[in-house]
Amino acid sequence: MPEIKFYKHDPIPMEMHKVKIVQKLNLLPVKDRLAKMSEAGFNTFLLHNGDIFMDMLTDSGVNAMSDEMQSAMLRADDAYAGSETFYRMRDKLEEIFGIGNLLPTHQGRACEHIIARHFVKPDSCVIMNYHFTTSKAHVTTLGGRVEELVKDEGLIEKSTLPFKGDIDLNKVKACIEKEGAENIAYMRLEAGTNLIGGQPISYANMKEATELAKSHGIVTVLDASLLQDNLYFIKVREESMKDKSIREITRMIADLFDIIYFSARKFGFSRGGGILVRDEQMFHDMEDYITMYEGFLTYGGMSVKEMEAMTIGFEETMDFDVISQGPQFIQHCVDVLDAYGVPMITPGGGLGAHINAREVLSHVPSEQYPSGALVAALYICGGIRGMERGTLSEERNPDGSERIASVEMVRLAFPRRVFTLSQTEYVIDRVKWLYDHRHLVGGLRFVHEPKTLRFFTGRLEPVSDWPEKLAAAYAADFGEDQ
Ligand code: F0G
Repeated sequence: MPEIKFYKHDPIPMEMHKVKIVQKLNLLPVKDRLAKMSEAGFNTFLLHNGDIFMDMLTDSGVNAMSDEMQSAMLRADDAYAGSETFYRMRDKLEEIFGIGNLLPTHQGRACEHIIARHFVKPDSCVIMNYHFTTSKAHVTTLGGRVEELVKDEGLIEKSTLPFKGDIDLNKVKACIEKEGAENIAYMRLEAGTNLIGGQPISYANMKEATELAKSHGIVTVLDASLLQDNLYFIKVREESMKDKSIREITRMIADLFDIIYFSARKFGFSRGGGILVRDEQMFHDMEDYITMYEGFLTYGGMSVKEMEAMTIGFEETMDFDVISQGPQFIQHCVDVLDAYGVPMITPGGGLGAHINAREVLSHVPSEQYPSGALVAALYICGGIRGMERGTLSEERNPDGSERIASVEMVRLAFPRRVFTLSQTEYVIDRVKWLYDHRHLVGGLRFVHEPKTLRFFTGRLEPVSDWPEKLAAAYAADFGEDQ
């Protein structure tokens, strides 16, 4: 987005849209928020949305639609088979990515299920720059293993590295040598690495990594769920790409991969998913999974209205103005908090602003889930719902011990085109207050711990009465009614 100049002060991030439909927000008093957090087992996934002021849990399926997307929904063709909606979606994806073999799915993890089911065998290994919770769970459930080969620098919380999602090519070579190419099910590159802070991967790195994989006959898979932010970062941070259009960059990336999949809850501002398969035979071999697990081949479990909306959403993703706003708001949030001394994951990535919970709550041991505690505390102190992205989001080791996350974070997602700058300023203010009162926050322990993806539905309790003390300090500063 061209930077809009101001007469009286430095530029600020600008919304390149105007509001047409709104949803009223509710700010409960602090004592009610304390009660709601306790009822929700100190797990922000279990809160009711009506009790939340700023919902920054995720950018998944909660992005604002444009007028064009909404109006396209009216023309959805609901034929069970052969829906014209499907062909419009397929044609748009083919125009953008250059692949027309589309397997529609109900959301991103369904793509992961199908890809894993097709390629993973017991003991086979999947190479990734970094795992995502569901992408890993599908591999391990089938008896496979995930090797995360992101460059070591990508895991350093405070950094100026522009592409922290880059995979380490030396580690990839060593892995292929150790495992044997025939035991590697595929290489999955996540463009916009979610769990290390929405950090991008460079085009140059994707090119080298996929060339290396191909030279060993290894199938290359792109997780394009967070591609929109990654496209922005390639254009603004990768010198050799700055004169290319978003459409050109997208096509250059697509040309590197055998398979591209996406969650349309993120990519396309809608709800659904899809897999693009370059090879005709491979495409036909995978079709059966769609009819078995998702739906017929021309809807794959999606609502046709959503498919129409995402088809417009794909086109809007090619608009630099549209995709600039998320990363620019996030960078603003990260910059101000960083200047306030709050430990943030830097540089700002896509998806959301990420707080370094390990450093903020250095007095809380990893086994007591510092990110989980901090995210619960932030709901109590401001009605802001973020997401735990740390040890709680990991699965235990086979011997039952905790797998301590390499990066311990609270994620404050910025759903696209949803929040204004004043709302962002409110969040910044409450995070700073919480940081200044961090000594009041203690740890959590499980009272109900599911075996798989425990962060979604697990219930916890505080190890002491710290939430009450925190709420009292908050009320003393802002009043009982806030
Ligand atoms: N891949 C990535 C990189 C994701 O971020 C997600 C979802 C998925 C795959 C799975 O897609 O939710 O449609 O099944 N991320 C969401 C989040 C859940 O909040 O970050 P899905």
